[in-house]
Amino acid sequence: MYNEINKLNHTMKILAIETSCDDTSIAIVDCKNDINNIETKLLASVVSSQTKLHARSGGIIPNLAAREHEKNLLPVFKQALKTAKIKDFNKEIDLITVTRGPGLQPALLMGLNFAKALAYTTKKPIIGTNHLLGHIFSNFIQHEGIFKNNIKLPVVCLLVSGGHTQLYKISNWDNIKMVGETLDDASGECFDKIAKMLNLGYPGGVYISKTAEKFRSKNPGYKSEFKLPKPLMYSKDFNFSFSGLKTSVLYLIQRLKKSKKFNKKVVEKLCTETEDVITDVLVSKTIKLAKSIDAKTIMISGGVSANQRLRDKFEKTISNEFDFICPAKSMSTDNAAMIAVAGYYEHFRRKNDDCLTLEINSNLQI
Ligand code: KG4
Ligand code: ZN
Repeated sequence: MYNEINKLNHTMKILAIETSCDDTSIAIVDCKNDINNIETKLLASVVSSQTKLHARSGGIIPNLAAREHEKNLLPVFKQALKTAKIKDFNKEIDLITVTRGPGLQPALLMGLNFAKALAYTTKKPIIGTNHLLGHIFSNFIQHEGIFKNNIKLPVVCLLVSGGHTQLYKISNWDNIKMVGETLDDASGECFDKIAKMLNLGYPGGVYISKTAEKFRSKNPGYKSEFKLPKPLMYSKDFNFSFSGLKTSVLYLIQRLKKSKKFNKKVVEKLCTETEDVITDVLVSKTIKLAKSIDAKTIMISGGVSANQRLRDKFEKTISNEFDFICPAKSMSTDNAAMIAVAGYYEHFRRKNDDCLTLEINSNLQI
């Protein structure tokens, strides 16, 4: 695999398109060297969020998301070219990459068709990439300056998003293996569903963590009142489960409403305790895996990795035992810059895809 890479001593300018969920995003990133010594420079990362639209229904409606992608793709594309100061697309862009899965089928199709039309008309190589790989490589991008990979292997990567909660063991960058995942709901989904039960906004993780942070600052010594479960916290494997927690909170809310004890203070306490049990389980399982494989580095990624409580707990628990790496918060949630790096990585594994036969796969795994 790396034969090709050694020959590459120039920079590749990559245009990446991401529409797997509710964010329309296009990025342009310079990538250089093989993945072990990769250097990246972010030239443009434009994200058009549909949060306000989906907040009305408290969740994403796939066809509505696709319609918005269709509207947003062209303006986002033009903005990305402008930000990256691309004057001549044909001369300057070396590779087009696009998320082919996993994600919402109608949403993925919009990005893929846009990318295919662009590749076909400009005769540029195209490669489809994996959104999950993108999240892992969100740690290979920084906002300012040049990122250089000096991450120590082996790495344990916790990937926590709206659709996934997975643990990866990375012995080298060509050997990324999933060793555990959620058996039911993803951690982000649990945040979102509990937020909906509490009549908070969408995306739920953001509202729960804001409410919890405020509550903790006013009640520094607060001890758990509701004793929510920490599912699979002590199981021997590296799997997760969050649907039981969601159901416990639902029954608790029903009981509290019946006894007329459900009020604003209770909502604040429930947010605080929900955030604490989810982050406790995530941190504990990740560190357990890191210890078991003698990892040097713990890395987190995905929308939930924007959670400050999660970051603080990792920092505090890890101390000097492992290096701890997390993406810039804007790179935790969906963006195309991470897709550019994943596309570069895939390019060295399979070169290119055929523009005419490239397809989405909404259940794609690593
Ligand atoms: O990675 P992402 O943007 O999209 C998917 O691939 O799913 O992740 C979205 C998820 C949502 O469930 C959202 O509630 C959660 O990330 N999220 C957070 C925070 N910011 C976003 N969860 C907890 N705390 C946050 N600060
Ligand atoms: Zn994502």
